[in-house]
Amino acid sequence: MADIAVCAWAFLAGCAPDSPPQRDLVMEVAAAMGEGFDTPASRGGELYSRYCSVCHGATGRGDGFNAFNLNPKPRNFSDSAFVSHLDTALIRETISRGGSAVGLSSLMPPWRNTLTKRDLDDLVIYVIELSATE
Ligand code: HEC
Repeated sequence: MADIAVCAWAFLAGCAPDSPPQRDLVMEVAAAMGEGFDTPASRGGELYSRYCSVCHGATGRGDGFNAFNLNPKPRNFSDSAFVSHLDTALIRETISRGGSAVGLSSLMPPWRNTLTKRDLDDLVIYVIELSATE
């Protein structure tokens, strides 16, 4: 179990930046680690509800209560076809440095000064996990 977790962290930290997105691996690890509070997926869920759901919506559909203010609106994270086109490193970069740093809307705020590295990793896992719902 500990070994599996180490692989996942190494992957998310960008040790394999040239690999294609390995959603299945990330999701398997997230599932294998169970549903306790301190797992990456459940920590990511807590953080997401607190910081992200106002815009991205509780289930990631881009329908948070603040979404009417946004143009363009956030994309649908529950759409697995959309999320599978996103690179894990790019998701992390977008969350860390904000939309304007990756050519998206500057209405997507940067979080690197607010959240820890671990928070960012857990949010990446959670965003990928949201896409498993459709
Ligand atoms: C103030 C509203 C707002 C908040 C809060 C917000 N986002 Fe966003 N986010 C956006 C918008 C708008 C976009 C779409 C930008 C675009 O398509 O140009 C976006 C895009 C993204 C993307 C890129 C997806 C893509 O279209 O390629 C990711 C990943 C993301 N947000 C994750 C998060 C996470 C995780 C949080 C919480 C830590 C968060 N966002 C908080 C507004 C927000």
